[in-house]
Amino acid sequence: MSLDRPLVTIRDLDLRAATSRGEAHILKGIDLDIPNGCILGVVGESGSGKSSLANALIRLLPGNITRISGEIRLGDTNLLALDEAGIQALRGTRLAMIFQDPMTALNPLFSVERHLVDVVRRRWPGIAHAEAVRRAEAAIKAVGIADAALRLKSHPSNLSGGMRQRVLIAMALLAEPDLLIADEPTTALDATIEAQIIALLKDLRSRLSGSILFISHHLGLVAQLCERICVMYGGTIVEIGDSRTIMAAPAHPYTRALVACMIDGADAAGDQPLAFIPGEVPDPVKPVDGCIFAPRCAYVVGVCREARPDLRDFGATRQAACHRLEEIA
Ligand SMILES: Nc1ncnc2c1ncn2[C@@H]1O[C@H](COP(=O)(O)OP(=O)(O)O)[C@@H](O)[C@H]1O
Ligand SMILES: [Mg+2]
Repeated sequence: MSLDRPLVTIRDLDLRAATSRGEAHILKGIDLDIPNGCILGVVGESGSGKSSLANALIRLLPGNITRISGEIRLGDTNLLALDEAGIQALRGTRLAMIFQDPMTALNPLFSVERHLVDVVRRRWPGIAHAEAVRRAEAAIKAVGIADAALRLKSHPSNLSGGMRQRVLIAMALLAEPDLLIADEPTTALDATIEAQIIALLKDLRSRLSGSILFISHHLGLVAQLCERICVMYGGTIVEIGDSRTIMAAPAHPYTRALVACMIDGADAAGDQPLAFIPGEVPDPVKPVDGCIFAPRCAYVVGVCREARPDLRDFGATRQAACHRLEEIA
C-alpha cells in the first residue's frame, strides 16, 4: 500500500431516515479522506451529523434509515457493500469504537479481564490463555489503572465512568485497529477526568499505529488532540484542514464562529463556553437550497441562498465550502 494513500476514503456519502415529520436528510454528500497514522478531529454543534458519520463508518445504523449511498473504502474494501458477516468481522479488529457512554459497550455480566481477553482472542485466535491475560494486564496498566490484577477481576458496574472509559481505551489498544473511532468519549465525564482521558489519548497516540477519528462538539479539545480538523454542519463538511491553519485562520464563517466562541469561552470560570452562535442547527427534515449555514451566517449575500457551495481548495492544506472565502479572508 502506498504511504500517501488514505486509510479510509469516503465519497458522496448520503444518509436519509424516515421520521414522523418526513424524511430526514442526515448526511448530504460527504467527501472525506482519513489519512494513515493521523488523529483527525470531527467537530460541530450537536445535531451536525458527527455520530451519524461515525455510525455509518462501522455500519451501526438505526432501523429507520431509508437510504445510504456513496462509498466508504477501507483499503480496497467498500464497507457499504459488505454483508453483515463481513462488517462484523472488521468491528473490534480493523475498526474499533469508543462511545460516549462506555456502559453500552461493556457487558455487565463480564469481568474487565473477560472483556480484554475476548478482544485479544478475537484478534489473535489460538493465542494461549495465559498470554492473553498477560496482555490484558499490560493494557490495563498502560491506560493508567492502578492495582491492575485486582481491577481485572472487577465488573463494569463497580467502576467509575472515567475508569470504564479507560477500560474501553485498553480494549481499543489491544485490538490494534487500523481505525479507532472515539465519539464524544469524554462528554459524560467531569472536567478533571476529561482532562485525564485526553492526556491519556495523547500519550497513547504513539503506541497506536493506526488512525483515530476523534469526535467532539468541543473545538478546544479537538484542537489540543488532533493534527487535522474536519468541521461539520447540517450534515455537510464546511471546512477541513490541518489544525494549526484552521485555529489560526478559520476560513468558513461557521468555523470562525466556533473559534470565536472558544476564545470568548476560555475566559469563563467553568468549562461551559459563555459565547454561542445565534440561531439553531438546521432541521434535517427541511430541504435546503443554497448554503446550509446561510440562515445564521454573518457574511450572507444573495448567492448563498441560491446555490450550495462546493468544498474547494483554499490554500495548500485546507478546503472549505463557502462562496465568499476570498472576499471575507
Ligand atoms: N435515525 C435517525 N432518524 C432521524 N433523524 C436522525 C437519526 N439519526 C440522526 N438524526 C438526526 O440527524 C441529525 C444529526 O444527528 P447526529 O449524527 O446524532 O449529530 P451529532 O452527533 O453531530 O450531534 C440530527 O438532527 C438528528 O436528530
Ligand atoms: Mg453525536
